[in-house]
Formats: sequence, C-alpha cells, structure tokens
Amino acid sequence: MKIAIINGPNLNLLGTRETHIYGNSSFDQYLERLRTLFPEITFHYFQSNIEGELIDELQRTGYDFDGIVLNPAGYTHTSVAIGDAIAAIKAPVIEVHISNVHAREEFRRLSHVSGKAAGSIIGLGLKGYELAIRALTDQKD
Ligand code: DQA
Repeated sequence: MKIAIINGPNLNLLGTRETHIYGNSSFDQYLERLRTLFPEITFHYFQSNIEGELIDELQRTGYDFDGIVLNPAGYTHTSVAIGDAIAAIKAPVIEVHISNVHAREEFRRLSHVSGKAAGSIIGLGLKGYELAIRALTDQKD
C-alpha cells in the first residue's frame, strides 16, 4: 500500500514553530515513527510552502497512490484551487490539522478542503496523521 503525506506552508518548521500550539517534534522525527508503526506501508513525503507545488503533488500522487494525508496548513482557509485538485483526483484524501482550528481565530474555521476530503481529523496533534493512515488502511481492508 502506498500513502502520500503532503504538508503545506510552514510545516517544515514543526518542532520550532509556535511549539505551544504545534509541539516539539519535527515532522522528520514523526515520520520515522510512522515508518516504524506501519512497516508494510510505503510512504512518500512532500512538503512545500508554495500552493501550486502542492497542487502539482496532489495531481502526481492522486492516481497511483492508495490514499493521501494532506495538511494544507494556511492554504486550507484560502485555496479554492487545492479543494478543486482534491475533487479532481482519484485517491481518497484525509485532511489533517494538528491544532484545533475551531478553537482558534475565526478565519481558521473556513476550510476549502473539508467538503472535498474523505474525512478530516482536527486538533489531535501529530497523532492525527497516524489516525488518518489507519482510516486509509481500514478502507482498503
Ligand atoms: C494547521 C492549522 C492552520 O490554520 C495553520 O495555518 C497551519 C497549521 C494545523 O495543522 O493545525 O499552518 O493546518
């Protein structure tokens, strides 16, 4: 089974960025944990700070991967184009947010992604990625 994990802007700074909100672990560290937890899954990891690169990656992985775990970060709240890309591709996409976006600023409540995603996991920290992978794995069984 092949799963792509796609992270949007500023998530390259996990572990140093607003640690009271996003925690102390870098994503590279967390990815090692995921690889240990799910040795049977082939993971492809991509992060970009650029909207069009995220769309290119959704299109690239959206046909031959079994599922995509996507945290579009700030683009969640602004990008019609990322929502359109999710609707266009075949692979199921699970939206993940580390923080509880509903408990923060009002503008974070709008998601252009939730309505196109297979599901959303919000506010459970990095654990949300693991839960999203479990959801994709179960769908396959
Ligand atoms: C985020 C929430 C977004 O509102 C924010 O812009 C991010 C990260 C999260 O994972 O909690 O960059 O997607």
